[in-house]
Amino acid sequence: LDNGLGLTPQMGWNSWNYFACDINETLIRETALAMTKNGMQDAGYEYVNIDDCWAVSRDSNGVIQADPNAFPSGIAALADYVHSLGLKLGIYTDAGILTCQKRPGSYGYEAIDAKTYASWGIDYVKEDWCSTFLDNPVQRYTIMSEALNATGRPIFFSLCDWGVDNPWNWAPTIGNSWRTTPDIKDNWNSFISNLMAQVPIAGASGVGGWNDPDMLEVGNGGMTNTEYVSQFSLWSLMSAPLIAGNDLRNVDPDTLAILTNQEVIAINQDPMGKQGTLVRSTNDGYNQIWARPLSDGSRAVVLFNSSPNATNIELLWSDIWVPINTQLSVRDLWSQSDIGVFSTSYLAENIAPHASVMLRLSTSSKY
Ligand code: GLA
Repeated sequence: LDNGLGLTPQMGWNSWNYFACDINETLIRETALAMTKNGMQDAGYEYVNIDDCWAVSRDSNGVIQADPNAFPSGIAALADYVHSLGLKLGIYTDAGILTCQKRPGSYGYEAIDAKTYASWGIDYVKEDWCSTFLDNPVQRYTIMSEALNATGRPIFFSLCDWGVDNPWNWAPTIGNSWRTTPDIKDNWNSFISNLMAQVPIAGASGVGGWNDPDMLEVGNGGMTNTEYVSQFSLWSLMSAPLIAGNDLRNVDPDTLAILTNQEVIAINQDPMGKQGTLVRSTNDGYNQIWARPLSDGSRAVVLFNSSPNATNIELLWSDIWVPINTQLSVRDLWSQSDIGVFSTSYLAENIAPHASVMLRLSTSSKY
């Protein structure tokens, strides 16, 4: 969407994956404050997003009302606080009559809701797709997109139809990102399923509008740190939104190290915005080579061992659109060390089960 936002994939936090409906203003404030202190803000995380369950009703003028028990100070005061920290506040709604948790949706109230959000100082709106019945998503999401634009406030617009109506075909002119899959769960099969669904649609993503394979589960405990490194590596390579979904008030050092790896984040935030994809696989599809070109001419690569056994994976220069005999320096982005200069290929040995090696390959000469 050409609204000046989403020039790189959005980075932030969202309450849903860990807290679901158990949210309130104290949690949002503490999370925002934690982000300023634990390195998340410095690493580029910007949006603090309230998901479902914040709203309870509408007043006689149709104005949406936050739950007075959970948000007694109101959303505008919360936005002021989040802004005072140099962060931005996001909110959630639904294109239907009710949200997925049966709170009031925006159907028929798009103009008034957009105005209300803008008056509160909201910077980001996620619009879900529950209770829409047979409604047309292009029409429905266009109404909200135009309503947000009409407020004059820059508001990032995140579509969430779970990929059911092929949003990659129509959402790039309507929103800044669109969900492409069912909800991610904090387990290996869900991660792999959402990952592989991106391969055929990688071309739809780009500056101003991003494929969204759903939020990060890093730090939520259902997968190993090795698997979380793989999610973070592959989400970064795919220009996916980097929306943390864990409890940032109590975050362990390993989780923080994954979420704030600046060299990996730099791949995600590369200004060319070209989504990386699976370029080759071996071992019945288990050994995967994912790659993308970067704006400075270098290449980012993830060598992903999705099998249950340790394995070697060989990267060929033909996988990354580089002629053989080209000298490339290879840098490992998780150990943050230069491995050496290679020509034609690079062999990563003994990659642990479910682990990823993430590389940046560059040359000073022309290919
Ligand atoms: C849907 C969305 C989730 C979350 C929940 C909230 O399932 O896809 O991301 O917002 O609704 O109810």
